[in-house]
Amino acid sequence: MYKFVINGGKRLSGNVVISGAKNASLALMPATLLAPGTFRIDNTPDLRDVSTMSQLMETLGARVSLNGKLQTIDTRGVNNFEAPYELVKKMRASIYVLGPLLARYGYAKVSMPGGCAWGPRPVNLHIEGMEKLGAEVTLDSGYIIARAKRLNGARINFDVSSVGATGNVMMAAVLAKGMTVIGNAALEPEIVALGEFLKRMGARIDGLGTSTVTIEGVDELHRSDFKNIPDRIEAGTFLVAGAMAGGKIKVADCEPSHISSLLSKLEEAGAKISTDKDSVTIEAPDKILPVDISTAPYPGFPTDMQAQWIALMSRSVGSSVITETIYFDRFKHVPELLRLGADVEVKENVAIVKGVRFLKAAKVMSTDLRASASLILAGLVAEGTTEVLRVYHMDRGYERIEEKLRGLGADIERVQSDEF
Ligand code: EPZ
Repeated sequence: MYKFVINGGKRLSGNVVISGAKNASLALMPATLLAPGTFRIDNTPDLRDVSTMSQLMETLGARVSLNGKLQTIDTRGVNNFEAPYELVKKMRASIYVLGPLLARYGYAKVSMPGGCAWGPRPVNLHIEGMEKLGAEVTLDSGYIIARAKRLNGARINFDVSSVGATGNVMMAAVLAKGMTVIGNAALEPEIVALGEFLKRMGARIDGLGTSTVTIEGVDELHRSDFKNIPDRIEAGTFLVAGAMAGGKIKVADCEPSHISSLLSKLEEAGAKISTDKDSVTIEAPDKILPVDISTAPYPGFPTDMQAQWIALMSRSVGSSVITETIYFDRFKHVPELLRLGADVEVKENVAIVKGVRFLKAAKVMSTDLRASASLILAGLVAEGTTEVLRVYHMDRGYERIEEKLRGLGADIERVQSDEF
């Protein structure tokens, strides 16, 4: 086990290069199951979640390797269509193999994902989508078992905008017979990237990036190469680090248009923002102004930036209201931030943050990926030495985070720890 040891108070400045998008990789990888061949996906991040998906793909018979940023996936040996609980419980995104296995092989047995640090995370929309495409789906001892000779195109309207369900249905519909129209489809850049990849493979898709995606099924797809998009949440996390502990930070190799809601909120908080084609430069404000946010599906303020925003607002000169509309109980980071001296009160899905003049170092524990990020951000500015336990949560979604932060002047070390 490892922990991060952070000596707070260092001023950050310089350049940081953003890695490929975790939540795009986790969709692009299973999409390769739809065709035989060797696929090369560039700008793939080296993350725990990517290696978990690699393990899952190899369990199915594919061969996956990552050399630097270039991932190679050979799907010619796929001969198993079951995603076991042992792997699925580590990562909810494992359910992304359901659609492609069903579409290509007519059968899939995928463990139900189970809960996560915050609340239940249902998969009903995934299952209903497969059923609407003509699959016979049964639930048996914790597994989703789906069968279909050939899927048939359908009109599928999601009551809730769901990134995962949109991606799964897209990957099933591309090989279905006839037209599929997905209403209330997710607009997230990671889903657009998945759609672009599928089109490179020969799929016929219209409406990517809008809430209505139309897919004309084809009989087969072929291999293709692709370059992954930058990780907008990693970029956002470093921009919040800049607003809290900067100086001036340039976040390079990112896509400014993917984080416009965050950029405007950072400007409202007093930060100076300038953007280039593939970079954003932030200059920290002398004082952080309180700014309310309410999370929303893309292009709204991302729920994956909510914990980081609470860390920023805990250092503001006033009070702010943080409303979480996607996951009503995604506040496991708050009790740990309180240990660092933050003043946050949670009522149902709303956190009221009263800015404090100083945060005080403490030993805190990560509970999930983005919660860990908020604790590290707070530790960067807390007086004294903060220890953040269970860094494996961070490694799921941030590539070499301590090296990137040290490159900006932070005093952070990854230290062996026997504390669980
Ligand atoms: C994706 O999860 C991301 N993960 C999450 O990022 C992100 O928080 C989430 O989208 C929302 O943006 C990946 O892309 C791998 P959803 P996903 O389906 O697809 C409800 C991170 O930190 N819902 O868009 O699982 C659900 O409960 C992770 O990188 C159903 O009710 O999220 C939630 O309230 C955390 N039934 C809402 O929809 C379903 O069948 C949005 O969830 C599916 C979802």
